[in-house]
Amino acid sequence: MAQRPYIVGNWKMNGTRAMLSEARAIDRAAQRHMKVEVAVAPPFTLIHAVHREAEQIGVGAQDCHPGEDGAHTGDISASMLADAGAKFVILGHSERRTAHGESNDLVKSKAQAALEAGMRVIMCCGEDEKTRNSGKAEKFVLDQLRASLPEMDNAEERLTVAYEPIWAIGTGNTATVEDIEAMHKAIRGLLVELFGEEQGAEVRILYGGSVKPDNAREILSAEEVGGALVGGASLTADSFMGIALAAG
Ligand code: G3H
Repeated sequence: MAQRPYIVGNWKMNGTRAMLSEARAIDRAAQRHMKVEVAVAPPFTLIHAVHREAEQIGVGAQDCHPGEDGAHTGDISASMLADAGAKFVILGHSERRTAHGESNDLVKSKAQAALEAGMRVIMCCGEDEKTRNSGKAEKFVLDQLRASLPEMDNAEERLTVAYEPIWAIGTGNTATVEDIEAMHKAIRGLLVELFGEEQGAEVRILYGGSVKPDNAREILSAEEVGGALVGGASLTADSFMGIALAAG
């Protein structure tokens, strides 16, 4: 059975307690639009507070450490995030791969830790502009995903993939619907290969990169697009729920 569209807000390094009013507004609006699954990933400092406010929306994290506990100054483990109320973790985001030098191996071990802690994983992938222009985007993205995804059972419940072309993130540029569909179909093929016909066909594939209320309908109606991972436009309830409304 097809899953509901999934609209996830990645607040990145934005938000103080003043953002809790936006979280409340998002939650109230989400209660009126149950056809769409809505979630936010606040910074670590707000996860517990948003979780306490949220009756309808899912709350997740933007990163986790691959270890369980120990001497890792400044890091947060998956089980600590789960304890704070996080139900999923975004991993492999290009901003972490680039700014923190995260390798596919590290991303994979973080995903294993998140799954072991009982959390769902949103696994990001995406090519840079040079790779896109070289015509090798599809191979790059599939190789990146293959190397970043751990083995798992029940992938349709525990995994979401987010395709985010790096050149589209925060730039106002979005990929064409044709390019999005082509990449999402290629990712679908890989998911079926890795997780089998039944589970691989049900894993949702989100698109991310300058999704806004005014382009959301076109992007979200594209084939194999199961939702959106939204950065900038997730920071106010109005724009974020404008995107969610376009989804269903
Ligand atoms: O995680 C979200 C993406 O990086 C997209 O960010 O909507 O600001 O382009 P953006």
